[in-house]
Amino acid sequence: MDHPLPKELKAADFFNDERVKKAKSLLLEALADKQKEISSIQPALPELKIPYEQLIQAFGNLRGTPLFYPYIGSGIGRGPLVELMDGSIKYDFISGIGVHFLGHSNADIVASSIDSAISNTVMQGPLQQNIDSLELIKLLTEASSFDCCFLTTSGAMANENALKLAFHKSYPASRILAFDHSFSGRTLALAQVTDKPAYRKGLPKTVDVDYIPFYDYRLGDESIERAANALRMYLKRYPKQHAAMIFELIQGEGGFYPGTKLFFTTLMEILKESNIVIIADEVQTFGRTSKLFCFQHFELDRFVDIATIGKLSHSCATLFRKGLIPEKGLLSQTFSSSTVSIKASSVIIKSLLEGEYFGEQGKNMLLERHFHNKLQALSSRWPDLIRGPFGMGAMVAFTPYDGTYEKTFDLAKRLFDKGVICFIAGENPTRIRFLLPAGAITTEDIDVVSDIIEKALVEGK
Ligand SMILES: Cc1ncc(COP(=O)(O)O)c(C=O)c1O
Repeated sequence: MDHPLPKELKAADFFNDERVKKAKSLLLEALADKQKEISSIQPALPELKIPYEQLIQAFGNLRGTPLFYPYIGSGIGRGPLVELMDGSIKYDFISGIGVHFLGHSNADIVASSIDSAISNTVMQGPLQQNIDSLELIKLLTEASSFDCCFLTTSGAMANENALKLAFHKSYPASRILAFDHSFSGRTLALAQVTDKPAYRKGLPKTVDVDYIPFYDYRLGDESIERAANALRMYLKRYPKQHAAMIFELIQGEGGFYPGTKLFFTTLMEILKESNIVIIADEVQTFGRTSKLFCFQHFELDRFVDIATIGKLSHSCATLFRKGLIPEKGLLSQTFSSSTVSIKASSVIIKSLLEGEYFGEQGKNMLLERHFHNKLQALSSRWPDLIRGPFGMGAMVAFTPYDGTYEKTFDLAKRLFDKGVICFIAGENPTRIRFLLPAGAITTEDIDVVSDIIEKALVEGK
């Protein structure tokens, strides 16, 4: 396909040069040929076992902490399958904690990365952005109906920028509202918002946060009343002191707990009455439910003032309404993202919007139903070994055994050894979670993984 640049530009001549096009198609052809050899889980190659162990050791030492999994990728994969440096091929059902939604070595992303590699700059930023940045923020604002979009390099920075916008607008309000067990990132400010004392151990207090209990599906409506009462209590205790409330609409790190439309609208109506900015932290949920944004899935469009995205979007972003445009200088940075991630981001978001992912019959929800049915069948066969399924859309989880961290962690390791990569989430219980590479899998892949889950579960009982 020709590069869509005005033909008068030298860049158009360059990107559409026959040599460039030929080189690109040869590279993609070579990749596709090699990928044919990647079709199922493979054990490690015996001759690479010792060198691999040395690499893992060296990585942990240089980083200062051991790796969670002995995972060092080689640089090639095929959809949900990925090759590691020991020659093993594994099913990646966590996709870098939610990054590789279209799978490994996706041809469209590789093609856009080739364009990025021959582009003039590796990094883009506020003083030097290419047309790619504009294309991306147009896509995001049109798909979300927000007015503005500020790109950045991580989910945490997208949330930092969201908090700044909210504080700036609501000055001198200085408190934040968040949910129990929420996760927002690990900067100094966000380590206070994230409801996990271990993540802020030894760090100075940077912001006052009041926590509201999240929706509890076991209590139903009672939990809506409980949260609304807690919110009213804080608003009364600290009048006009709250700048924003951060909503994680499906708690991710907390253990894959979704709220409901009624739960969110009840709280959001109270917040609107008090003019408190509503932030939807979609760093983990973006692209994974029945709509592109999870706030659209729960029909909260009219309430949300700011939404943040990351992970599968590659380039992270803070989307916001006109009324929140800050004075000069509040938001800036050297890098907004790399050219590779900006171009890849557009490829991914277009693919989400043009593919058949959304709606109740879209791929995200179909994969959820299929995986949930498989896990339900496992829990009927092994009622003492597995509870669940939990989660929504391309976020699927279950509680193994008694839900203790140790037993769940052991199962995650056993699954890794058997060729399935997952991760854990939540405390009391700790769950096994999957962030499905929905763009790269079929129900048959879920069947293969479910059989492996059953074997690993039974082995650990
Ligand atoms: C809901 C949520 N917000 C923010 C973040 C932080 O994103 P990052 O790790 O890119 O800084 C995460 C990461 O897991 C997340 O799940």
